[in-house]
Amino acid sequence: MGTGSKAAAAAGLAAAGLAAVAARDVTQRRHAILRTYPIIGHLRFFLERFGPELRQYIVTNNDEERPFSRDQRRWIYASAKLENSYFGFGTDNDVEHANGYPIIKHRTFKGEGAPTARHAGDDVHLPSAKVLGGPRGRRHAFRPNSVVNISGMSFGSLSKNAIEALNRGAELAGCLHDTGEGALSPYHRKGGDLVFQIGTSYFGCRDEHGAFDLGRLKDLCAGAPVKAIEIKLSQGAKPGLGGMLPGAKVTQEIAEIRGIQAGVDCASPSRHTAFHDVDSMLDFVELLATETGLPVGIKSAVGSMGFWDDLVREMGSHTRGVDFVNVDGGEGGTGAAPLLFSDAVSYPFRIGFAQVYRKFAEAGLTDDVTFMGAGKLGIPENAVVAFALGVDMVNVAREAMMAIGCIQAQKCHTDHCPTGVATQNPWLVRGLDPELKSVRAANYVKSMRRDLWKVSEAMGVVHPGLITPDDVDILDGLSEHRTLREVYGYDAAWSGLGPQLTKEITEIMSAEERAEHSPTKDDTNLARAADAHESGRRPTM
Ligand SMILES: Cc1cc2nc3c(=O)[nH]c(=O)nc-3n(C[C@H](O)[C@H](O)[C@H](O)COP(=O)(O)O)c2cc1C
Ligand code: SF4
Repeated sequence: MGTGSKAAAAAGLAAAGLAAVAARDVTQRRHAILRTYPIIGHLRFFLERFGPELRQYIVTNNDEERPFSRDQRRWIYASAKLENSYFGFGTDNDVEHANGYPIIKHRTFKGEGAPTARHAGDDVHLPSAKVLGGPRGRRHAFRPNSVVNISGMSFGSLSKNAIEALNRGAELAGCLHDTGEGALSPYHRKGGDLVFQIGTSYFGCRDEHGAFDLGRLKDLCAGAPVKAIEIKLSQGAKPGLGGMLPGAKVTQEIAEIRGIQAGVDCASPSRHTAFHDVDSMLDFVELLATETGLPVGIKSAVGSMGFWDDLVREMGSHTRGVDFVNVDGGEGGTGAAPLLFSDAVSYPFRIGFAQVYRKFAEAGLTDDVTFMGAGKLGIPENAVVAFALGVDMVNVAREAMMAIGCIQAQKCHTDHCPTGVATQNPWLVRGLDPELKSVRAANYVKSMRRDLWKVSEAMGVVHPGLITPDDVDILDGLSEHRTLREVYGYDAAWSGLGPQLTKEITEIMSAEERAEHSPTKDDTNLARAADAHESGRRPTM
């Protein structure tokens, strides 16, 4: 064979090899990137594998990337895939010179806490320390099963496969899935329990003129596993702006679900029309709660404090009130927002939440309200700080997106998301397999719960709700450290959870623990605890 024909044969072989790889990439279901970008998608895995080594010499270190550092993303990816999520050699954070670095203070001797024997993959039952809607006597009050839940992201900003993966994941992990403001789609009905979000456009519960329609809301809640209603006042990444879905993402299906025009930018108003101040908002809250029986709360970023002063004053009479307050930090995510708003409008989570919590604590109302938070709280150490500041449950958005494949390409506003998470492009959406990714979403939520449970035990308590602002310090370089209580001006008399709530959650967690160590999992204590979770009653032992 001559040189020319040898080269032709080699080229033919190479082409056949590439065709075989491409065929395998397009048909496999594990990796969205390869399904969508056959052959060249392998480059991403090469860079992911060798990126840390390359960047160490060329670009950034493991903690520089934003919004989520490489270490944080690696932890999420590994947890979602149930791979080894440990890190070797010790921290590479510059602990010696860091400002604002949280230090979690462990205790030497074991409190009445959980053992530290479990590792990745273990499923820890970590319910909320509070019964949602219990203090205000809502007909369908319940104790949320999980302190980690999936934050609101609409079908529209996310693809149908992403919504389905998150909803199925919520069912597998036993957590709540917030619909986001873009109505309740068929992809939200895959088994997971829902929090239905009402935004300023009232998608899913609006009349033909765009005004709020109570009848439609009741029908919607009755026809889906909606466990609570969230009125969205604002979002940390774009407070005072209202939702925005770029026209490129408004498909015919989304237009029909929302009742809008396809292909045209869908901009929601910045404020609600169903109420116009705290007084009328509380009337609205009570109306929804009475008509549906569901717990009703608000989601808001924190800016001017006048709103919170009014809310706490009105709730002081105990005749009207929200069942939960969900504070979204200014560092939070969005599908699309102007840079000015994402970067500079509203307080970051810790400062914003602490200001709000202080108002409720000063009025003695903290046990009456379930506090939720979002803003990079899907990273365990951030969640610990949030619990220490008074949060009862954390909501996770971008971290859950990463669990189902997001690579932080930050193109969510363009419809060109390469992983099929935040796009409506059918080819890109096809890359994301909802069933497989649902397992990853669930693994990630379970890993969060497991780490929160383990760190609670290290701190000598049975549940993260019992972590206090004295249990975490904030470092200021090598010489200064102050407790969260000092940094955020929490009064020494505020005890966190009240004595009754402390007793309840301690009993529930102790029953879990005893059940875990009994020969049979259907131990009567567990059955009692589960019954108590469901009804919100105290288990009697
Ligand atoms: C793609 C995307 C879409 C979102 N859509 C909504 C929404 O419809 N309603 C809402 O209240 N928040 C929305 N958010 C904000 C998140 O629910 C969450 O509050 C915020 O991203 C902070 O959480 P994180 O840091 O875990 O992402 C969205 C966030 C992202 C990234
Ligand atoms: S991969 Fe990029 S574009 Fe897609 S969801 Fe993640 S950040 Fe957004």
